Amino acid sequence: MSQLLPSDEQIRNNALARVFIDRELRMRFAPEDEALQESIARAQRENLPSIQISPLQGKLLQIMAMTCGARTILEIGTLAGYSGVWLARGLSPNGKLISLEINPKYAEIARATFAAAGLSDCAEVRVGPALDLLPTLLPEAPFDLIFIDADKQNYAHYLDWAIRLSRAGSLIVADNVIRGGDAFRTSAADESAAGVVVYDQKMLEKRQLTGVDIPSDEELALGAAAYIGKIVEHPRLISVAFPCDDNGMDGFAISIVQS
Ligand SMILES: C[S@@+](CC[C@H](N)C(=O)[O-])C[C@H]1O[C@@H](n2cnc3c(N)ncnc32)[C@H](O)[C@@H]1O
Repeated sequence: MSQLLPSDEQIRNNALARVFIDRELRMRFAPEDEALQESIARAQRENLPSIQISPLQGKLLQIMAMTCGARTILEIGTLAGYSGVWLARGLSPNGKLISLEINPKYAEIARATFAAAGLSDCAEVRVGPALDLLPTLLPEAPFDLIFIDADKQNYAHYLDWAIRLSRAGSLIVADNVIRGGDAFRTSAADESAAGVVVYDQKMLEKRQLTGVDIPSDEELALGAAAYIGKIVEHPRLISVAFPCDDNGMDGFAISIVQS
């Protein structure tokens, strides 16, 4: 049995390697410019919880938006607008992000973030409980990409709405769907875990969705340094190297909507 357990030294080395990998990935693939840094600083000054997505997740969202040529993006759960900046930067010209936020103070802060990032024209925050606001969005549908990152208890309802507000080919992405494994335990640890359990089940059962959960802890073996160096530098590539090993404790669910 003891042979199966890593030694203290292995655990320490792995932890150090993860810190190194995390720093390198962030630095190379998702460096935060002034607007993103200021968004975090503003949220800290205003004592908002530090629960925004990671820079690599942001970059992945940007790439997904660009991949589906997003002209319309819907976000559920704005906080200070950090993920909104990444998403809005993936919009096609003349595209629009609508982000829903229940807390009026957070919404104000997010508006300041979008203004400072030069995104006021294409990124709008709407205030209220998402379940009240979602039906009002029907005239503005379909959305090409929908990012769900609000109260986990309502995730399954948000998935239903996301499908209603999408078209064939839309992407639906939800954060925190793994929750350190709580999403797969038979008795959920709390209401939030119960919410993502239902979300994951529903995503798999829906006939019109093809979905996958991807761990997004920032751990990735940098096997091919030259390759990575090249894709970072290449003028025609916008790239992200993303952790998808088996150690991730939480992560994204990504679905594509079919007809
Ligand atoms: C995890 S944070 C969003 C983080 C943000 N997406 C980012 O990465 O920068 C969740 C946000 O959802 C908001 N929220 C919670 N319940 C909500 C609801 N029922 N309707 C709309 N927003 C809600 C919270 O106030 C909080 O700002």
